[in-house]
Amino acid sequence: MDDRITESPRSPERIDLGEGASIRLLVPGDALVVFETVDRNRERLRRWLGWVDRTLGPGDTRTFIDLTIGTQGREFAYGIYVDGSFVGAIGLHTDPEHRSAMIGYWIDWEHEGRGLVTKASRALTQVAFRDLAMHRVWLTADPLNTRSCAVAERLGFRLEGIRREDTYTDGRFHDTALYAVLEDEWAGDGR
Ligand SMILES: CC(C)(COP(=O)(O)OP(=O)(O)OC[C@H]1O[C@@H](n2cnc3c(N)ncnc32)[C@H](O)[C@@H]1OP(=O)(O)O)[C@@H](O)C(=O)NCCC(=O)NCCS
Repeated sequence: MDDRITESPRSPERIDLGEGASIRLLVPGDALVVFETVDRNRERLRRWLGWVDRTLGPGDTRTFIDLTIGTQGREFAYGIYVDGSFVGAIGLHTDPEHRSAMIGYWIDWEHEGRGLVTKASRALTQVAFRDLAMHRVWLTADPLNTRSCAVAERLGFRLEGIRREDTYTDGRFHDTALYAVLEDEWAGDGR
């Protein structure tokens, strides 16, 4: 048994991404600002993220944050911050039995295209392998979501396949591209 696998795996509370950017674990008191940011970006996010249409008030965001905290080390929801202001979110959902972790993310439109989600995803993939003893880190994206696919490819995740029309969002079926990286393929911080 890998000695990093403990009953309460720990993910760092805060990670510095450089140039004023960081991620830190969300707490219940963040629900309002997170909800307001989702609400401002609702139209562009709902195209790709099914949960957006079910997020109708700060209470829904609070429930989500409470749920992640209640998983006791299986799910980690981080806010992405620039100069202390919340600008987006990134989550790591782990399956300790199979040592597999899934990453999901979104960012406010004003902060898109600055490399923030790439940096945050790199940091969390590193945490998954180094601190949480994961063997595999994966993410999914609609193949039409070229920005999201580009994040995975930039980090060296490998495209493993396309699940055809497996999700129904925004009134139609969507394909899903599956990307993953294994621990022995991951070059770490230097990638
Ligand atoms: C997909 C999404 C999360 C990507 O976020 P992002 O912050 O723009 O992505 P990145 O951080 O990787 O930005 C990459 C871009 O920044 C640029 N960039 C600037 N500095 C950079 C740096 N230091 N490192 C990497 N890229 C950098 C890149 O050139 C790239 O530009 P391009 O996309 O025009 O080629 C964002 O578009 C989004 O929120 N979309 C809506 C929600 C969504 O689709 N979520 C994912 C569902 S699967």
